[in-house]
Amino acid sequence: MDSILIRGGNPLRGTIQISGAKNAALPLMTATLLTDEPVTLTNVPALADIRTMAELLAEFGCKAEDQGNNSWQFNTPEITGTVAPYDIVRKMRASVLVLGPLLARTGEAKVSLPGGCAIGTRPVNIHIQGLEALGAEIEIEGGYIHATAPRGLTGTTVTMPVVSVGATENLLMAAALAEGTTVLENAAREPEIGDLIDLLVAMGAVVAGRGTDRITITGQPALHGAAHRVIPDRIETGTFAVAAAITGGDILLTGADHDIVEAILAPLQRSGASVDLLEGGIRVRRDGAGILGVDVMTEPYPGFPTDMQAQFMALMSISHSAAMITETIFENRFMHVPELGRMGADITVHDSSAMVRGVRRLKGAPVMATDLRASVSLVLAGLAAEGETQVNRVYHLDRGYERLEEKLKACGADIERVSGN
Ligand code: EPZ
Repeated sequence: MDSILIRGGNPLRGTIQISGAKNAALPLMTATLLTDEPVTLTNVPALADIRTMAELLAEFGCKAEDQGNNSWQFNTPEITGTVAPYDIVRKMRASVLVLGPLLARTGEAKVSLPGGCAIGTRPVNIHIQGLEALGAEIEIEGGYIHATAPRGLTGTTVTMPVVSVGATENLLMAAALAEGTTVLENAAREPEIGDLIDLLVAMGAVVAGRGTDRITITGQPALHGAAHRVIPDRIETGTFAVAAAITGGDILLTGADHDIVEAILAPLQRSGASVDLLEGGIRVRRDGAGILGVDVMTEPYPGFPTDMQAQFMALMSISHSAAMITETIFENRFMHVPELGRMGADITVHDSSAMVRGVRRLKGAPVMATDLRASVSLVLAGLAAEGETQVNRVYHLDRGYERLEEKLKACGADIERVSGN
């Protein structure tokens, strides 16, 4: 298995181009199933999860063509299958996002239950209840969600009990082809949902309430082809912003969108980093000043994102004081804590809060993590640490960060990928 070797201590200076957002691109890809016409997506990041989703869409008759230069075309003239098999779903939970589109287009979908994962139990009950409210009949059989809607789906008001990004996306897509009007109450407001609404509208859907927690969709009999550019990745932006701050460097993040990263940049600034919002990008730097401890709590958008919690914890682990980091979205998202501890961090977890007492410096060590964001937090820690850090299980990073080592290396990081057996 490959690993990443980092010799820490170099302040990172340079420019990094921000890629398209993985968590926007994946639901956009599933939305292409809603039409029999071709849909072109540009600014699609080159990631393992994108290839897995293309492989999954092929199961339903979609011709997914990588046209190069981060551009893909998806064409599903006819749905030829409705089963999302366990072997693909277990690799990538976002597979469950085919449920709404398949059901809406064909009246049937059979999607493997994703099961728990490294960060929590992650049930899909809200997806299921919402689709049932739209008229679907759903049975759980042999580990599969078997959904049928022989008479089609019908619009209604769905109030989601918990803010869920995926359930909001699934229901938006299903409602786009339902009969009548659907109102989604307590909808997630993440920018990736705004991006999905933009594509759906370009495909002919009628949607009101973008950016709010009450989305109204007027169902259409059919949608048509469209072309759409994926939004910049706000989590990648935040991750490289932390790379600048943690190493005492100076990085220009080109293509980053100011409007969607405020909750990430605000605590970074409070910790002592300078942030300049420029035309076409964001510059993040930290001079000789030390890092101040800043408390954060993860929340649905527009709050501080759970997908930045591990990276921010790596930064706080070398602050001059202490910071309380509270995770409210997932119940098991502190898997990076013991690994940061192996590098010398002083972190104590009580229930959903981690008390991080800053240490003078981290020390390189062999580490590994069980999910994408935890893995990248160890890379960040390694960049700041004294000595050599070996981050194992690199496949997590390949799922969500496009050309990670290349981007960091261009800013002066001493980082390389080592092939294992
Ligand atoms: C999305 O996951 C992201 N994935 C996650 O990013 C991200 O951490 C998460 O949203 C929260 O922002 C993609 O966009 C592909 P949720 P999702 O449904 O949609 C509970 C990464 O690292 N819940 O908003 O699966 C759930 O257990 C990944 O890129 C239910 O109880 O998250 C959680 O506690 C990891 N029942 C909370 O809601 C349900 O039916 C929020 O989850 C659905 C969710």
